[in-house]
Amino acid sequence: MPSPKGPPELRHLERVLVSPQAIKRRVAALGERLNADYARKDMMVVAIVNGALIFTADLLRVLRSPLRLDCLRASSYHTGTRAVGEPRIVDQMKLDVKGHHVLLVDDILDTGKTLAAVAGLIKDKGAASVRTCVLLDKKARRAVPFEADYVGFEIPNEFVVGYGLDFNERYRNLPCIGVLKPRYYREK
Ligand code: IMP
Ligand code: MG
Repeated sequence: MPSPKGPPELRHLERVLVSPQAIKRRVAALGERLNADYARKDMMVVAIVNGALIFTADLLRVLRSPLRLDCLRASSYHTGTRAVGEPRIVDQMKLDVKGHHVLLVDDILDTGKTLAAVAGLIKDKGAASVRTCVLLDKKARRAVPFEADYVGFEIPNEFVVGYGLDFNERYRNLPCIGVLKPRYYREK
């Protein structure tokens, strides 16, 4: 049984930037906007996993449209907290996006390279429209001009973990968004 205090990794955090309660409220508000915007559209949600897994799962349960869901995987080569090189789309999608209104969901908009590449790819495949929804936006880090249509929270230029976001593939299961204590960023 997990301890009632929550995952032990909470002890690895120096600071919590966004609490589980704040995430829940914001996801509900984003969901209501999306319900209004997509009320008359055949919606297809495309999640960029693994990062967007938890955000998408919570968002989907607020959406009322009989939408379709697909996932794709994008990867950059990482050295610690920095992505280097151009993102590669590794998993191809199963559903055909042609003629559909696609909502792309990712955990965080950082340099913008991933969403710019994936949005371009989906447009090229003939989607009727492509909009993007991110839980977090780190505006200070943008390397290509790209803005998301729906943003949960703007955050400062710090490397964060939790609620789907990882450091070296760990900490995705934290229920909040936070900054690790410096010694954990040194560990592999
Ligand atoms: P991009 O730089 O906008 O292409 O973002 C690429 C990916 O880097 C995101 O989808 C995240 O998976 C990852 N990333 C960027 N910033 C952070 C962070 O602060 N914590 C964890 N992952 C991050
Ligand atoms: Mg990601």
